[in-house]
Amino acid sequence: MTYSSPVHIEIVDAIALIAIDNPPVNATSHAVRQGLFDAIEKITAQSEIKAVAIYGMGRTFIAGADIREFGKPLLPPSLPDICLSIENLNKPVVAVLHGTALGGGLEVALSAHARVALPGTKLGLPEVNLGILPGAGGTQRTPRLIGIPAALDMVTTGRHVPAEEALELGLIDRIQGGDPRDVALSMATAALKGDLPTRSTANLTVVPNDAAIKDTAETLKAKKPHLFSPHKCVEAIAAASTLPFADGLKRERELFLECMESPQRTGLMHAFFAERAVADIPEKTAQARPIEALGVIGGGQMGSGIATAALIAGLPVTLVERDTASLEKGKASIEKNLAAAVKRGKLSPEKHDEILGHALTCTTNRQNLSESDLIIEAVFEDMEVKKEIFRALDGIAKDGAVLATNTSYLDINEIAAVTKRPADVIGLHFFSPAHVMRLLEVVVPDKTAPQVVATGFALAKKMRKIAVRAGVCDGFIGNRILSHYKKVADYLVLDGATPQQVDQALVEFGLAMGPFAVSDLAGLEIGWATRKRQAATRPSEERYVAIADRICEREWYGRKTGQGFYVYPESGKPYANPEVDVIIQEERQKAGVTPREFSNDEIVARFTTAMISEALRVLEEGIALRPIDIDATFLFGYGFPRFRGGPMHYANTVGVPNLIQSIETWSIEDAHFWKVPDLLSQLNKDSADIASLN
Ligand code: CAA
Repeated sequence: MTYSSPVHIEIVDAIALIAIDNPPVNATSHAVRQGLFDAIEKITAQSEIKAVAIYGMGRTFIAGADIREFGKPLLPPSLPDICLSIENLNKPVVAVLHGTALGGGLEVALSAHARVALPGTKLGLPEVNLGILPGAGGTQRTPRLIGIPAALDMVTTGRHVPAEEALELGLIDRIQGGDPRDVALSMATAALKGDLPTRSTANLTVVPNDAAIKDTAETLKAKKPHLFSPHKCVEAIAAASTLPFADGLKRERELFLECMESPQRTGLMHAFFAERAVADIPEKTAQARPIEALGVIGGGQMGSGIATAALIAGLPVTLVERDTASLEKGKASIEKNLAAAVKRGKLSPEKHDEILGHALTCTTNRQNLSESDLIIEAVFEDMEVKKEIFRALDGIAKDGAVLATNTSYLDINEIAAVTKRPADVIGLHFFSPAHVMRLLEVVVPDKTAPQVVATGFALAKKMRKIAVRAGVCDGFIGNRILSHYKKVADYLVLDGATPQQVDQALVEFGLAMGPFAVSDLAGLEIGWATRKRQAATRPSEERYVAIADRICEREWYGRKTGQGFYVYPESGKPYANPEVDVIIQEERQKAGVTPREFSNDEIVARFTTAMISEALRVLEEGIALRPIDIDATFLFGYGFPRFRGGPMHYANTVGVPNLIQSIETWSIEDAHFWKVPDLLSQLNKDSADIASLN
C-alpha cells in the first residue's frame, strides 16, 4: 500500500514497515507529521498487523524539524501527539536508525518500543542550539532510558552521540548492519518473536539524582550566563524525576513554550538558518573545479593553519616557503596543529600518521606547485610581494588551477591583473587560527569565473567551513566593518571609558571577547600597519586616536610580546596595563578632551550602531549579498553572540527609527563619523525593516 505522501507503508505478512521519504534529511515537515499520524491510525485499526518498524529512506533517519518551517505557525498534528500515538500503539514498534537521528527525529525513536541503529549512526537532541528544548517528550523519555546525568549531558550540550556510546548508555537496544529497510523487517520480526525485547519508555522509572541536576545548573550558570534554554532543559529533566510521565510532559510543554517566546530563540534559529543561507549565491549552479591537491605559499600562522585545515579535510598539501628555516618553522607549526587536533578528538591518531607520512610535502621550490589544483598564497600583507608571487604562479600553475590569495585587506583586482588569467584568481580569506575558525570569506574580484567561485565554496564545504561571498573593498565584509567599529571603541576610551570597561560591557552583551582583548590577541602591529597604510587617504575631519600607535611604538604588540592593552604574566590572569593608562591620559590632554563617564549600555549601543551602520554601507555597495551574509560573517568569524542572531538580526530588534535617532544624537558631537547610511534612511522612508533586505 503506498500513499502519495512522504510516508509510505509496506505490509510484509504481519509486519508494517513505515518508511519516511522526505529528502534530503527526512525532516518532520507537516506532510511527514501528517503521514506518520495517518499511518499509525491506519495500522492501529488493522488487527492482522502484529508489529511495526519505522525507518528512513535515503541518507538518514529523521534529522529533526524542517528548517523551512521555522518561524511559521506549526500545523497539526503535532510531534508530541505523534510520539504518544506511537508509544500507545497496541503492537510493538521498532525504530531503525541510520545516518542521523536528531531532535524531533530522535524523539520519534524514543517513543518506539525498541531502537536499533545501523553502524555509524549519530543520535542527538540539538534543540538547545536553537534556543528551545526537546518538546516532544525528549526530556521525559531520555532520562528514563539513560538516567539523569547522561540525559542532562545530551540535552544541554546537543552533542551527537555515536551508536556505540548510545548502546552503552541504553539509548538504543542494538546495533545491526544492513540496508535500513531489511534491518527494519528483520527487527520487527525479531520483536514479534520476542527476540528483540520491547517496552514503552514511558513506563520506565527515573532514578532521581538531585546532585547531578544541581551541578549542571551551577555549571551552566557559570559557563553560559547569557543563555536561556539550557537552564530550561535542566528544569525539564528535573521534572522527569519528580513528576509522573503525563505531568512531566505537561511541564516540558510549558517550558518549551517559554523558550519559544524568548528572543534568543529567534536569534539562534536565525543563526542556524544563516549557516545554510549563505550557500545561496549567484554562482550556485556553476560547476566547481575538482580539487585533489592544494598548494599553500607561506608557512606562517595563517599558511600553516590553512594547510592544517586542508590536511584534516583529506587534501594533500604542498607547502612552499622561501628558505629552509622558514619551511621548518611552518612544518613544525602544522605538526603542532595536527597533534592538537588529535588531542581534541578532531583527528584519529592513524589519520594523523598518514597525513605526516604521505599528504604533506614541504619545499622551497615553487615549481612543485605545478600539479596543484588550487594554490593559496598566505604571505604577509604587502602588495608588491603578492604581485611578484602571482606573476610567478602564472608561469608555474597548470591550466585551470585556481589561484587564491588570503589577503585580508588588499585589492584583489590589482593582484589578479598581474596574471594572464584573472578569471582564475580569487580571494580566500581564512580567519586565524585557520584550522579552527569556521568562516571563509570568498572574495570575488571583477573578472573571476563563476566556476572559480563555486570551487571556493566547494573547498569550504570540504573543510567544513562556512563560506560567505564578499566583494572587493578595503577589508571585504568583516574587516571593513571591524575597522569602523574599532574606531568607536577608541573614541570611547579617548572620551573617558577604559579599555577594560569597553571590553567588559561587550562581553556582558555576549561577544566572545572585547575589542581591545581581540587586538592584543591578533597582534597590535596589524592594525598599526593598516592605519599607516590608510594615513595618506584619511579624511582630515576624521578624529584620530593614537593610543594604540603609542603602545606599538614601545614594541608592545599584545599577547605575543607579553603586553599591550593588557599585561600577560607568565602565570595568572591578564590585567590592565598601567602604562597604557598613562598613555591614555596623555592622549586625552593632547586632544583637549575632558573625560566623561559612559554607562555599559551606551558603550554597547555606540559600538553596535557603528557596526550596523558600516554593515549597511557594505550592503549598499553590494560587497555583501544580503544582511544574513553579514550575520554569518560575524557569527562564525568574529565571535558575535549566536543568541543575538548576528549584527543585522540584532539591528532588526533595535529597529530602524531607533538606530536613526541614536546616530543623529551622536552626530552632534562628531558629524563625520556618525552619518545615517542612505540605506537606513530609505528603509525608514519605506517603513521597512532590515530583515526585508534578505
Ligand atoms: N530541515 C530541512 N532541510 C535540512 C535540515 C532540516 N532540519 N537539515 C539539513 N537540511 C538540508 C540542508 O539545507 C542541505 O540542503 P541542500 O543540499 O539543499 O543544501 C541538506 O539537507 C544536507 O545538509 P548538510 O549539507 O548539512 O548535510 P550533512 O550530511 O553535512 O549533515 C545533518 C546532515 C547532520 C542532518 C545536518 O544537516 C544537520 O545537522 N542538520 C540540522 C539538524 C537539526 O538541528 N535539526 C533540528 C533539530 S531540532 C528539532 O527537531 C526540534 C523540533 O522537532 C521542534
